Amino acid sequence: MRPDAVELRVDVVILGGGPGGYAAAFRAADLGKRVALVDASGSLGGVCLHVGCIPSKALLHTAKVIVEAAELPGVKFAPPQIDLKAVRDSKGMVVTRLAAGLKGLARQRDVSVVHGRGRFSSARTLAVDGPEGETSIRFEQAIIAAGSSPTRIPGLPYDDKRLMDSSAALELADIPARLLVIGGGVIGLEIATIYQALGSRVTIVEMADQLLPGVDSDVVQPLAKRLAGRCEAILLKTRVTQIEPLAEGLRATFAGSGLTSPQTYDRVLLAVGRTPNGKSIGADAAGVEVDADGFIPVDEQLRSNVAHIHAVGDIVGQPMLAHKASQQGKVAAEVIAGHAASFEPGAIPCVAYTDPEIAWMGLTEQEAKRTGVAYEKAVFPWAASGRAMALGRSEGLTKLLFEPGSRRLMGAAIVGVGAGELIAEAVLGLELGALAADLCLAVHPHPSLSETVAMAAEIAEGSITDLYMGRK
Ligand code: NAI
Repeated sequence: MRPDAVELRVDVVILGGGPGGYAAAFRAADLGKRVALVDASGSLGGVCLHVGCIPSKALLHTAKVIVEAAELPGVKFAPPQIDLKAVRDSKGMVVTRLAAGLKGLARQRDVSVVHGRGRFSSARTLAVDGPEGETSIRFEQAIIAAGSSPTRIPGLPYDDKRLMDSSAALELADIPARLLVIGGGVIGLEIATIYQALGSRVTIVEMADQLLPGVDSDVVQPLAKRLAGRCEAILLKTRVTQIEPLAEGLRATFAGSGLTSPQTYDRVLLAVGRTPNGKSIGADAAGVEVDADGFIPVDEQLRSNVAHIHAVGDIVGQPMLAHKASQQGKVAAEVIAGHAASFEPGAIPCVAYTDPEIAWMGLTEQEAKRTGVAYEKAVFPWAASGRAMALGRSEGLTKLLFEPGSRRLMGAAIVGVGAGELIAEAVLGLELGALAADLCLAVHPHPSLSETVAMAAEIAEGSITDLYMGRK
């Protein structure tokens, strides 16, 4: 510690101001604790707010309107004229307003926000190196919510600005004529959706044999089909082995089943996963165990191996999702305040905000087959949904998995417009132990996409009238 360091004493210090960290800080403060919240950037909200979930959703909205206008039957608009600065400013405004909201919420609760990079200097102190000098924070309890960073493939020209991670891609510096997306996961596909709608010719390269490899293939298929029609190429079972920075672009060399000849792109997005930040927080000095991958192992109370130090969010494991982090942050704060809380959700929903969206929760068929779990499946095709047809988007499907015999809901996967909203009903159903009959008997509005959940349940029950399944 430097001799001129400012000293701060708190009950709870929280390292990281993203959705896990600020939720933990606010809950701990509401439960009567003196709290310091440390974040390396000048503004709360973390990756999610500044360079992830929120800016991507703002840009995906722009993309959606462009595509919907172009596809509207019977109405012809002039080709869109894109004012990139105005698009960026509008996205920036959303982020600025939310960040200001967080600042206000911290102030209202007397949470001390300390800006700077924090590292443990002992099991009871955290040293923060900030723009205005060093702060030494002495704490009784700590919550580590330090998140994750984009994973890098060794040997790529990272000094070249045309090679982007997701944060750089969301800055939207320009609309590249040709964009290569490495990684057909959630980030790769969401950003491909944005740039494709804005006019880029997009190639997606994915090393697995399908896009979104962890997701059931029947659900991925409608998205894969639509992307195939809109992208320049989708290369499965393929890797990029080299990227050569040339004046005219980035020249990528491929290996695998896809393109064999090298191609030159104006920009390349690398989205091959995220790596937890466990190795860069001085965990050793506090005696906190970090595994070889950089994750911090925790129990259901989110406690690390050091009893008074908790960890939440991306840094404790998959799935790396903001809503998991914030829920864990609240639980950790409650445990610290002496409540009998634990993090044991029935399901954590995942959403790819692509076009169409894909959302899933609970058991997947892939996982059931791998682990030998028995299940009954019911799939309602959106081609039989009046609402989906009225929207001109009947390619979706709603799939529910039930426990054989009891028909208790075990999992759901939905592909189609708005799937990310529709999945919430299935999560609630699973948490409440809903049976297929419960989902049928809950009256759903007509015509709505939410009906597709009830209709899938009716298929399981054998009571569907909107399709003919044969007499039972
Ligand atoms: P990901 O793990 O979802 O996908 C990475 C993809 O890259 C995988 O399909 C993988 O097979 C592929 N890949 C890996 N190495 C490769 C290589 N050398 N060449 C070609 N393909 C390769 O990771 P992603 O998309 O970067 O997202 C990171 C995290 O952020 C995930 O945990 C995700 O859940 C989360 N996230 C969630 C969002 C949401 O909920 N909507 C949005 C954005 C991110």
